[in-house]
Amino acid sequence: MIAAAITGASGPILGVRLVEELLNAGEPVSAVVSEAAWSVIGHELGYKKAGAAPLAALLSKRGKTSGLKLLKEFDSHDLFSPLASGSTLFKAVVVAPCSMKTLSAAANGYADSLITRACDVALKEGRKLVLVPRETPLSAIHLENMLKLSRAGAVILPPVMGFYSRPETLEDMVDFVTGKILNLLGIKHALFKSWEEQTASGATGHKRRKAA
Ligand SMILES: Cc1cc2nc3c(=O)[nH]c(=O)nc-3n(C[C@H](O)[C@H](O)[C@H](O)COP(=O)(O)O)c2cc1C
Repeated sequence: MIAAAITGASGPILGVRLVEELLNAGEPVSAVVSEAAWSVIGHELGYKKAGAAPLAALLSKRGKTSGLKLLKEFDSHDLFSPLASGSTLFKAVVVAPCSMKTLSAAANGYADSLITRACDVALKEGRKLVLVPRETPLSAIHLENMLKLSRAGAVILPPVMGFYSRPETLEDMVDFVTGKILNLLGIKHALFKSWEEQTASGATGHKRRKAA
């Protein structure tokens, strides 16, 4: 099981695509979306939080039908959830996108929400913690927090494009970052061709270019 958190930085689509792809890969997902993230989802994706399983509802609206049984959702204030304890053997915690507020809390062990507690648990248990920070420009405080987390064992994966995959659309760019996260988790995907695949086939470009 992988814990996927979405916080209130710009780009919640990154977390949404990650959850979709984890479910496509047959990976159970425990998802936590912060209150601020729901506001940004409303603004950027035009979706209003509703119902007992709002993320599943959002995925359904986006056309995802299979794999939803593998998705569990937890309230970001629910510190009684399994994710709050190291005794729950989750494989990894991914926060995508990760706000500078959550990054700061994670860097300082300030576990006041289920998301920051899950980050804390991942670090103390030596499990994989992947943070996808979204802010620009970055202050010295942001950079120091990232360095601190990296030294503590987290992987900092900013949503920075690689242009060698020749992205054509915003979706391509989101899928590139999603694919980079999946690579870190050791989960196979076809979101973009590796450089090796591109050079071996003599072709370049994103998977959609190949399909066209
Ligand atoms: C539309 C919108 C976009 C935002 N984008 C960012 C961002 O890219 N990075 C960031 O660190 N904070 C951003 N914020 C501010 C966070 O939402 C805010 O700091 C919030 O307290 C984060 O809480 P959370 O980490 O619990 O989700 C944004 C806020 C709004 C309303």
